[in-house]
Amino acid sequence: MTSPAPRNPYLAKGFAPVRDEVDIAALDVEGRFPDDLAGTLYRIGPNPQFDPRPPYNPLMGDGMVHAFTIRDGRVAYRNRWVRTGRWRRENTAGRALFATAGLPSDDDPDAGPRPADGVANTNLVWHAGRLLALEEGSPPLELDPETLATRGLWTFGGRLARNMTAHPRVDPASGAMALFANIPRGRLTGEIALYEADAAGALSEPRIVQGPYPALIHDFAITERVVVVVVCPTTLSLERAAAGGPLIAWEPGRGAAVIVAPRAGGEVRRYPAPPRMAWHIMNAFEDGDRIVIDLCEQDAAMFSGPDGRPPEASRAAQRLARWEVAAGEVRSRRLHDLICEYPRIDERRTGRRYRYGWLACLGGPGTDDLFHRGLARFDHETGEMAVWSAGPRHAVSEPVFVARGPAEGEGWIVCTVYDEGEDTSCLAVLDAEDVAAGPVARARFGRRVPMGFHGLWRPLSGR
Ligand SMILES: [Fe+2]
Repeated sequence: MTSPAPRNPYLAKGFAPVRDEVDIAALDVEGRFPDDLAGTLYRIGPNPQFDPRPPYNPLMGDGMVHAFTIRDGRVAYRNRWVRTGRWRRENTAGRALFATAGLPSDDDPDAGPRPADGVANTNLVWHAGRLLALEEGSPPLELDPETLATRGLWTFGGRLARNMTAHPRVDPASGAMALFANIPRGRLTGEIALYEADAAGALSEPRIVQGPYPALIHDFAITERVVVVVVCPTTLSLERAAAGGPLIAWEPGRGAAVIVAPRAGGEVRRYPAPPRMAWHIMNAFEDGDRIVIDLCEQDAAMFSGPDGRPPEASRAAQRLARWEVAAGEVRSRRLHDLICEYPRIDERRTGRRYRYGWLACLGGPGTDDLFHRGLARFDHETGEMAVWSAGPRHAVSEPVFVARGPAEGEGWIVCTVYDEGEDTSCLAVLDAEDVAAGPVARARFGRRVPMGFHGLWRPLSGR
């Protein structure tokens, strides 16, 4: 396996792309994979097909999907690039054509117009019988869940106007999928479109709500009755970019906002909030008249100010916080001091009062380490954070929860762990109720699985 030798840290060590697609029927299993663990962990992340045109922005690297299928204690592996329009054109050309940072004017002169299907590198969702690869600037791309072949764009029968978030939320009671589109008409006006697809995949008309300013909005949340959009002052401005400033800038003076929209329609409310940055929301729920939103917040985003002044790195540390919307106000409080990101829950509790969340920790933004070296479970009832350290040379992906029994949190955590010394990854399984004990089983195969962004578990029984 060859690796490029770039200086960009997002192309090195555990982030380094792999350059081939393989099918491996049986990985080497260490320990015993639980008999009741049967399904596929899909992971996705940026994996440039060719050495990218510098400077490289990993948020726009070609999406690659990695699938680990666990059955009867055995583990199979398959990886495929998502065949986007960019990927196909570059594959024909034999080199990178499209810039991953900057504007279309930074593309190779031979690149041609940018295809509308983006890079499909951020997240995956299973909904209405479809496996969708997601990236927030584009519509989803549907994949074959077995072969990982790209089936093509999925626009909900033409009802999705343009793009959709990479973080839709599926309501566990109804099976409906709530989603939003930031910049839904391609203009930086602060508009956000809200949609809901029913359990059969029929998409609603868009409902346009107005944010306080055009901003980077990566995630959102639902409760049983409302949609919650947190708008942080990571602003977008073409005028600023045209004047030589940053397209994306951290502007805390503009404050944040929480937008609350009833899912069934009705008055949309917008509440001012403290100027923090949040990429990911753990969960939200209603408690009487209060709306509770748990998220990983940063005191400052990792973007320069409008004047181009770089951020203070330590302020980008991510910590779990609870924002409460009550009596027209948003109050926030930190839930724990541990630096952590990639919050996941037992998704049977999405939008409902819940007790447990799992996170990646021990590294990441605001530390001197780009990688997360551990996993944690947070208990909202006791305030306890149980931590497993994978060790200083091991990097851990987002923890994905797999239900085992009926009680919340009774299940497994599946993730990949990258070993810097060996330059290989393994699939690890932990008891979700005892993450501090570390993996109960690992599957190794002498290859690297680049760290990537997000993952999805699909049980075999659900097919
Ligand atoms: Fe994300």
